[in-house]
Amino acid sequence: MAAAGGRCWLVWAAAAAFVLALEATFVEDLDDSFKDDRKDDIWLVDFYAPWCGHCKKLEPIWNEVGIEIRRSGSPIKVGKMDATSYSSIASEFGVRGYPTIKLLKGDLAYNYRGPRTKDDIIEFANRVSGPLIRTLPSQQMFEHVQKRHRVLFLYVGGESPLKEKYIEVASELIVYTYFFSASEDVLPKYMTLPELPAVVVFKDGTYFVFDEYEDGDLSSWINRERFQGYLNVDWFTLYELGDTGKLVAIAIIDDKNSSSEHTRLKSVVQEVAKDYRDHFHRNFQFGHMDGNDYINSLLMDDLAIPTVVVLNTSNQQYFLPDRHIENTEDLVQFINDILDGTAEAQGGDGFLQRIKRIIYDAKSTVVKQNPDVILNICCVNVCMYGEVSLIL
Ligand SMILES: *[C@@H]1O[C@H](CO)[C@@H](O)[C@H](O)[C@H]1NC(C)=O
Repeated sequence: MAAAGGRCWLVWAAAAAFVLALEATFVEDLDDSFKDDRKDDIWLVDFYAPWCGHCKKLEPIWNEVGIEIRRSGSPIKVGKMDATSYSSIASEFGVRGYPTIKLLKGDLAYNYRGPRTKDDIIEFANRVSGPLIRTLPSQQMFEHVQKRHRVLFLYVGGESPLKEKYIEVASELIVYTYFFSASEDVLPKYMTLPELPAVVVFKDGTYFVFDEYEDGDLSSWINRERFQGYLNVDWFTLYELGDTGKLVAIAIIDDKNSSSEHTRLKSVVQEVAKDYRDHFHRNFQFGHMDGNDYINSLLMDDLAIPTVVVLNTSNQQYFLPDRHIENTEDLVQFINDILDGTAEAQGGDGFLQRIKRIIYDAKSTVVKQNPDVILNICCVNVCMYGEVSLIL
């Protein structure tokens, strides 16, 4: 009996070793030779440090990423590199913290800085490795894609200077969003475009057309419009919103508190985001945040919730209402006070810097010598360095 059990165990162990060996082949261990060997392929690489706890946490996820990408028949190759052993190569690829996830495609290195989950990483890899512009050949296809994207950018028309610009913008912003194109007959009948060619964004149950005269350059318009009008804001979203230079108006609430004040304030912000979009959307992003711990550490304040706070991501100041926000009129008044300069700004001491600091301070494995130089930072959930870079 014992012998049989032992044999069973042996068989199991052999099978497990076999499975492990199989898994290992889905993620290639990269070394010096990678620099020259990689050129003909698209690579998704985890640059890690053996001592970094967040790298260890990523490892099983990374194996799953390798398995799933292989299984899907994708041409993307998945690898990992000990960036402490091959630090000069890692720095050529622009690695400045651990773990760093990059998709390498020709001369470009695309940084992944979203949540480190299998699905998010694979979605990123497929998006960035695929065509810059995806053509939607039929109305059915358009409807299918529209259902799957809360924010969808679409170029409508034939070849044009605007299309060239669109492609150029896509090569940079594909790290954030997809770029589609279609001919006019693919669009739903309810749409009327003032002229062709056009760039349109579909979101919040409607669509908006890019207007070169009103909206400035295409790249900053896409950067501003790539968020839904109303968001559930977490610290990562807030950091991303920093790139847009917008004021961020958020209801700070406690989702679990059953008092109607919390849900009411949230609805007030939602309503203003929707009904006053034309007035405010160029300058404001709306949303809510659950709980005040994060915002308190950010502003070094002690906010009683529910409340509304408006953060200025370009000069790092913030505004608190001087009255109770009971309805949309109150909030609109508060926002207008900010716009005309009568609301009193507070702070101004760099809360975006503080977001970074909070992120770095929150971890134990950090070895911080000169964070601006290289390779000393083990990032918590996401790293936040440049999005796309040329490989040296
Ligand atoms: C719920 O929110 C109200 C304010 O609207 C507050 O007075 C109350 O203490 C909160 N309850 C809990 C359990 O936090």
